[in-house]
Amino acid sequence: MNRKRIIIANWKMNEDVESSLALGKKIKSALSAQNETELVICPDFVSLVSLHQFFQNSKIVLGAQNVAEEEKGAYTGEVSVLSLKPFVEYIIVGHSERRNLIGEGDREIAKKAEVVIRHKLSPVICVGETLHEKEDGLSKVVVLSQLEADCKHLTANEIAKSVIAYEPVWAIGSGKNCAPEDVVKIVEDIRGLIKTLYGEKSAAAVRIVYGGSVQPNNSAEFAKVEGLDGILVGGASLHSSEFIAIINNFKSEAK
Ligand code: PGA
Repeated sequence: MNRKRIIIANWKMNEDVESSLALGKKIKSALSAQNETELVICPDFVSLVSLHQFFQNSKIVLGAQNVAEEEKGAYTGEVSVLSLKPFVEYIIVGHSERRNLIGEGDREIAKKAEVVIRHKLSPVICVGETLHEKEDGLSKVVVLSQLEADCKHLTANEIAKSVIAYEPVWAIGSGKNCAPEDVVKIVEDIRGLIKTLYGEKSAAAVRIVYGGSVQPNNSAEFAKVEGLDGILVGGASLHSSEFIAIINNFKSEAK
């Protein structure tokens, strides 16, 4: 199965409309024409409209960082998939910052993944263990139980169109990335679970990415990880030169 490689930038709540556009311009102009990797930028909600216009006819597509569980109604402050749909192709669900700071659980994340896929967008479903869980030897158990719960409303065809992001919580923003040899194992476990739950075809099609302190000096290592289809970049995607170096280093090691 030939899966298209993907790099996702998560800008979190670091930019406003003006600075998002400025950063988007720098990335777009520095991007090599030969770039074959799918490139997804996830700015804040408010910047989506102007960035969408700016990236039209470019190789960059947009993603959202979150979505409401419901499509419509009296949910003050929430943003519906219906509002996002004209601008994005991907929506991140279950990022650890939402799990840990906002208190989102697998029940909500599963509903979000469902609403995203039913609108023909791809959810980027984030799973990952905390430092405590890692030290207790629970990484695999935690990741697989989150994944099973988060995907429970999805069909075999729908899971095949989803992206799963392995993002160990202790690696996010810490400068300490997960060792590529550990990523290999967890990617194998994730694909194994998808095969058990949904069958061979879905397991071969679903894309799995790694996120957590991806930098210009380690993205080439992740490009070599067996079974890994891409990376999710937070902090380093806020600096155009670093992000471009990450993209170029990842590409140069393409399998
Ligand atoms: P980081 O963030 O690259 O800054 O570690 C990754 C993420 O939160 O998705």
